[in-house]
Amino acid sequence: MQVVDFLGSPRFPTILETLSLCPVVLLVYLLDTFLLKPLTSPLRHLAGPPGGYGINGHSAQIMDLHGSTVHDWISTYGSTFLVRGPLGIHHRIFTLDPRALSHVLNNTQIYFKSPLLRNLVRRYMKEGLIVAEGERHKLQRKVAQRLYLWYLIPISALTVRSNMAKGLKPDQKLRDHEITGQLSTFMFAGSDTTAGTIAMGLYQLAKHPQVQETLRAEISGYGDNLPYEQIDELPYLDAIAKEVLRINPSLPGTVRQTQQDDVIPLSQPVKLSNGKIVSELRIRKGQLVHIPIEHLHTSKGIWGSNADIFDPSRFLGSEHLEPSKTPLTASFSSTSTSWPMGPTGPTGDQPGSIEPIPRKTSIPSNVPSGPGVWPNFMTFIDGPRRCIGYKLALMEIKIMFFKLIKDFQVLPKEDQRVWRWNMMSTRPYVEGTLYAKGSSLPIIFKHLKGEDETTSDISISKEVE
Ligand code: HEM
Repeated sequence: MQVVDFLGSPRFPTILETLSLCPVVLLVYLLDTFLLKPLTSPLRHLAGPPGGYGINGHSAQIMDLHGSTVHDWISTYGSTFLVRGPLGIHHRIFTLDPRALSHVLNNTQIYFKSPLLRNLVRRYMKEGLIVAEGERHKLQRKVAQRLYLWYLIPISALTVRSNMAKGLKPDQKLRDHEITGQLSTFMFAGSDTTAGTIAMGLYQLAKHPQVQETLRAEISGYGDNLPYEQIDELPYLDAIAKEVLRINPSLPGTVRQTQQDDVIPLSQPVKLSNGKIVSELRIRKGQLVHIPIEHLHTSKGIWGSNADIFDPSRFLGSEHLEPSKTPLTASFSSTSTSWPMGPTGPTGDQPGSIEPIPRKTSIPSNVPSGPGVWPNFMTFIDGPRRCIGYKLALMEIKIMFFKLIKDFQVLPKEDQRVWRWNMMSTRPYVEGTLYAKGSSLPIIFKHLKGEDETTSDISISKEVE
């Protein structure tokens, strides 16, 4: 910037002159942020909870995984309302509305992750798929999706090979830092989330012995080497995997920010404070939208009155399987050749051809349609940025439960209550020990086979992370 002195010659301003402008700039910023923008915002009549003027806005309530405040807000203000960001500014739209969520998640050319979220993720995962936006994201996703079974072989080597495919133009290739970024992205996004889910799943099984017994009855007839295609079809195991993922989503929520003015359609009209009822929201460039994965899953309006309770039977429709009724062995026949041959039959060691087990799980009929891998099932979100590893995650979860529950009885440690806290992804901790110990989850494993039953106590703790 240049100024003109009294003789008309241009010169740079002195430090004093620059500093004297600071209060003016600050005043303009404050007026714009606290007065002009709120008064002229197209969302100024959208209702929302009171307060939120502190350093964290309403974030503490939103990130609290155990309180009921957010559900009270939903009861009061409906499926779409405004919450406040730090210092009461940068309002976010909080919405469970399926149409609004689909709009935001599908229009990835307009809705990006917020810079704050991207910077946070970048610290751990570098310039990989999670941080990339726009054209770079499209390209990275294309390269990642070009791979087969890419997750079973070292990701970097595969990514490099795919990037070197013949006929690719320079702008169709990943840059070096993007290739290394994929490595840390897949390591972090793939391991922390799945490990936390498996840990919480084991805890749920320990706390629900009847569910554990039902699962054991379902899987006990099968050999240890049952191929995954068949493990995947076991209905009670499928119901447990879904329920664990529903009630403990690794990411309790995520945020998007629009890159231009937009109109968000709503399936449930909203009554504004000026009395108008609207079925769409006009928003300005920069507007933040909070996608409340966990609150959506625990919403009684969506998942029913037992939404906050661990109950895999919700996915079994009217046919709640009891151990004695488990019909799996009956569905194997020696005439079908639908599944791979090998020592994988129900008794484990009999070679033979196996018929597919009809999967019995389905999303409960009372759950309305909505976005997600399954309706209103947002653990892996949805749209072009849906988790790329969700099938791998399901596979890991099911194989772990299959193997562990077959051979071990899992029990909770009686005197310890387990909670979850949100550290990029959620992790378990024992009540009263978070600051001293970090994440931990003591579970007792009793070996069911050998003559001597052994009891071990494993922990996921920061020492082994
Ligand atoms: C239980 C396990 C998992 C959960 C709950 C989970 C959840 C999610 C969620 C919610 C997102 C979207 C984040 C956002 O856009 O704000 C995501 C994206 C992603 N996940 Fe997963 N994930 C899991 C396992 C995995 C695995 C096993 C891998 C890979 C090995 C993986 C790789 C990724 C990648 C690369 C993205 C970014 C996709 C993109 O933006 O195009 N995740 N995951």
